[in-house]
Amino acid sequence: MRRTVIAGNWKMNKNFSEAEDFFLNLTESIKSKDFDNVEVVICPSAVFLELATDFSIEYPLGIGGQDVSANVEGAYTGEVSASMLRSIEVDYCLIGHSERRKYHLESDEQINKKLHLLQENDITPILCIGETLEQREQNITKEVIISQLEGGLKNVTLKKEVIIAYEPVWAIGTGRTATPEQAQEIHQEIRKWIEEKYTTEIAEDIIVLYGGSMNPGNQEELLKQPDIDGGLIGGASLVAEKFEQMIDIAIELRG
Ligand code: PGA
Repeated sequence: MRRTVIAGNWKMNKNFSEAEDFFLNLTESIKSKDFDNVEVVICPSAVFLELATDFSIEYPLGIGGQDVSANVEGAYTGEVSASMLRSIEVDYCLIGHSERRKYHLESDEQINKKLHLLQENDITPILCIGETLEQREQNITKEVIISQLEGGLKNVTLKKEVIIAYEPVWAIGTGRTATPEQAQEIHQEIRKWIEEKYTTEIAEDIIVLYGGSMNPGNQEELLKQPDIDGGLIGGASLVAEKFEQMIDIAIELRG
């Protein structure tokens, strides 16, 4: 059975004391919960990753970066490498988030380089894909998703874990979620593509998250879909109580 992943993407939010308070609150609440099949992941700003991994040593918590350099090391001012993330025990890293594609013009080729570097450093990539509103209106959602999968997973064997996050761009931070049926349709498509390209077993095992205005109100219906294995949560992950509520909903459904 696939595990359910509830991942918070803080984006460029919180200062040090806010981040610390969140982790104190979250870990206090997590330790009294009983769960086997749900994994909680937080992706804070790179500045707070070490603080975060200090908490993850003691508590069942995964920590993820929000981005990584496409280069190994050297003269790349401002960048953070995969081996740096590894050296502070980071387990996951988002790549190809639509905000990086849009504001930093990241290409599938660069995203693919990042994915390889993460795998070489034993960090699980969370590959974000998703169509814009314009693309959905043009009826090319499936083509866009498949081309992002093809580009992002080029020469990747999937012998090591990769998580896919389907995030329709029009649903991110807008309060407008994909309906459970719309999301399920694309998740199924992603799994089908993985099956054709790899194996049935890999397709059955791969974790596919939904992201885009997921909150405690719409999460349950989304998680009830057979191909949705959890969420990549932005806005609703910033308040510890709200995020904890979402962890509880996941535990209730998937324990
Ligand atoms: P949102 O962000 O939940 O605020 O829509 C999701 C994301 O961008 O990962």
